Amino acid sequence: MRSFSESSPIGKRMSSRFVAGMTLDEALHASDELNRQGMAVTLDALGESVLSEEHARRTGKLYAQMLEAIALRGLNANVSLKLTQMGMDVDPLMAEEVVGELVEQASHIDNFVRLDMEGSGYTEATVAMTERLHAKFGPAGTVMQAYLYRTEQDIERLLGQGIRIRLCKGAYKEPASLAFPDKIDVDGNYVKLAKRCMTSGVFCGMATHDEKIIEELKRFATEKKLPKNAFEFQMLYGVRRDLQRALVKQGWGVRVYVPFGPEWYPYFMRRLAERPANVLFLAKNFFRN
Ligand code: FDA
Repeated sequence: MRSFSESSPIGKRMSSRFVAGMTLDEALHASDELNRQGMAVTLDALGESVLSEEHARRTGKLYAQMLEAIALRGLNANVSLKLTQMGMDVDPLMAEEVVGELVEQASHIDNFVRLDMEGSGYTEATVAMTERLHAKFGPAGTVMQAYLYRTEQDIERLLGQGIRIRLCKGAYKEPASLAFPDKIDVDGNYVKLAKRCMTSGVFCGMATHDEKIIEELKRFATEKKLPKNAFEFQMLYGVRRDLQRALVKQGWGVRVYVPFGPEWYPYFMRRLAERPANVLFLAKNFFRN
């Protein structure tokens, strides 16, 4: 299914709702457009679980090009990457070398590298690598998932070192021994942890499309008299564009996660799984266009 979808024109057309294009140029164009609408961007070259050193180093080079292109075009954008995309399953030391070069590059051009968070098998390694790269070069941060029980402690650990956090709910299937099985508990933990991040003095990203939660965080920020630039909201490309624009209009910081590239299938399937109504939505639009 994956190789058929990724190579078929129908698949590419379907994915275009959530993926900004197949090439870096298309993603830069989309970023420019979002910047014009008042939104910052984080660029993600889609891919995960690479199985060779050669592939991992090639991906590292692509990210180096992305950082260069952002600087050259003066875009308000940083980059997000996955450790398994940088060869974590092949050789963790090699992955750290590849990511370290990117964080070092970012430190010279006033940019930032976000280590996305994958399944729970990678949590500790991702947190620990972020700590080392942050201590060595500076501009590295990671993602915390509100569904994991351990996240509250991890957040204290990262904030204590001034490491920037993106807080999300979590997108992978995890066992009840590690993660809250019920959505209501995940949502409750999200709000609690978001408030902790927002008042920490460390610039953090609140990554959610949950309107109720966003309203609560806006109310909280206003009540605590937090400056509007003390944190930002983050959302995915193509998801709740109405809400993204409304937040900008109200003066809140918004960053859009802009994924691109031919390896879009697993990312796209996670977006459909999160909201099965998207299948119907995409099908309707497909036939309408
Ligand atoms: P939730 O799933 O509770 O949905 C609330 C409402 O949001 C829905 O009712 C709907 O209106 C809207 N919505 C949510 N998803 C939608 C979709 N796909 N299409 C249309 N509407 C949708 N996860 C992870 O494990 N590691 C990571 O590194 C990241 N990184 C990341 C970056 C950014 C910028 C975002 C926004 C999200 C992530 N995620 C992630 C994904 C995250 O964990 C989570 O799976 C999704 O954001 C969906 O959860 P929500 O908080 O949006 O709300």
